[in-house]
Amino acid sequence: MSNKMWGGRFSERPDEIMEEINVSIDVDRHLFAQDIAASKAHAAMLAAQGIITGSDAKNIGKGLDTILSEIGKGGFTFKRALEDIHMNVESRLSELIGPAAGRLHTARSRNDQVATDFRLYVRDVLDETDAALAAFQAALVNRALEHAATVMPGFTHLQTAQPVTFGHHLLAYVEMAARDRGRFQDARKRLNESPLGAAALAGTSFPIDRHATAKALGFDRPMANSLDAVSDRDFVLETLSAASICAVHMSRFAEEIVIWTSPLVGLIRLSDKFTTGSSIMPQKRNPDAAELVRAKTGRVIGALNGLLIVMKGLPLAYQKDMQEDKQGAMEGFAALSLAIRAMTGMVRDLVPDEAKMKAAAGEGYATATDLADWLVRTLKMPFRDAHHVTGRIVAKAAEGGVALHELPLKEMQAIEPKITKDVLGVLSVESSVKSRTSFGGTAPKNVASQAKAWAKRLEKERKLG
Ligand code: ARG
Repeated sequence: MSNKMWGGRFSERPDEIMEEINVSIDVDRHLFAQDIAASKAHAAMLAAQGIITGSDAKNIGKGLDTILSEIGKGGFTFKRALEDIHMNVESRLSELIGPAAGRLHTARSRNDQVATDFRLYVRDVLDETDAALAAFQAALVNRALEHAATVMPGFTHLQTAQPVTFGHHLLAYVEMAARDRGRFQDARKRLNESPLGAAALAGTSFPIDRHATAKALGFDRPMANSLDAVSDRDFVLETLSAASICAVHMSRFAEEIVIWTSPLVGLIRLSDKFTTGSSIMPQKRNPDAAELVRAKTGRVIGALNGLLIVMKGLPLAYQKDMQEDKQGAMEGFAALSLAIRAMTGMVRDLVPDEAKMKAAAGEGYATATDLADWLVRTLKMPFRDAHHVTGRIVAKAAEGGVALHELPLKEMQAIEPKITKDVLGVLSVESSVKSRTSFGGTAPKNVASQAKAWAKRLEKERKLG
């Protein structure tokens, strides 16, 4: 038998390989809720416009509700021979309500259907990602409040650079997540137009009301050009681009957790909840979750690259290539969601080793800049000269194997006679971080007020949410 949805002019069944390459139900079945919602909106609009009768629309609506609950309960048999979610739903509808089911497809096509379904799906992904990132931010802010004054080494080139506070470091990721959320929110605004009613590519001769279906589905307006409506997937690409950037943020943080938990570094510890053991080395505590967050990033970026490549050579309008838009994107979104949730869990779970952090913060002459700044401020030395003098003092301390604050004052004075004992006040890691009060700097009081401001902002958002 030929396909009952489109097989009118066909007399033979498709080859097995044809069916195999054509079928998309394994992937687009995940669009069932969106597909049914769009069909309900379409049927109601067709009736309101007098294109189908009110009683047909009512039966279609009821039948679609039944299908929704059948699928929800796992009692629906998806048939590969019916290719995709659209035809699976429609075929079941005709079993349930008879010939009226055939009227549902008036003035639409699978092309505008799939574009509508996937927009709705990606819109849900955007909303869920935003909520997940808000939870991630809240977890970071809580820990930042707790550790506003916890001193740790700040790094550049992964070399000890200047002392910072752990809270400050955590708040850096709150800022990144805020920009990620901004990108997702922007993408949502552009995404939120309805393709439904563009039909196959040219629109339709039926007096449909695209504004009504757009409104019913929560879109801001119908898309203005029917060719564009069925043939662009930039809403997926844009979401995957934002997702890739976000995944890179997650990955960088995950990498820091891997480094910090290494016994060679030991700045933080993860509990048993976020570590795994080794089957051969009983002493091991591996940060697998962080490593996997790092790796999941590849999936997200891979999905973006994959779809860019699918789209790049396609003429308007719909091409079957576009059926390949869903699998990678769905996997990419799932990977990002898991990465964000895993990072949130680790943020809540991690315990910094404060003594070790403080000791490490003082290693490697991390307060050398504070000494140079003191020379500039107190002795009115030009910074370049102060840099040079400090370099000589650091070399002297290194020679004696002591820290800057341990170097006897007279050794410093041998290099720069105007140095007084006041200098000792700026050489500790605590005074170093305390002095960094410039806007956005690491001083504990800055960090505490930033963290409080974030907590307030997130709380307000949650209440509005
Ligand atoms: N399964 C298809 C997709 O995901 C639905 C649209 C098919 N349209 C068509 N004319 N064959 O893209």
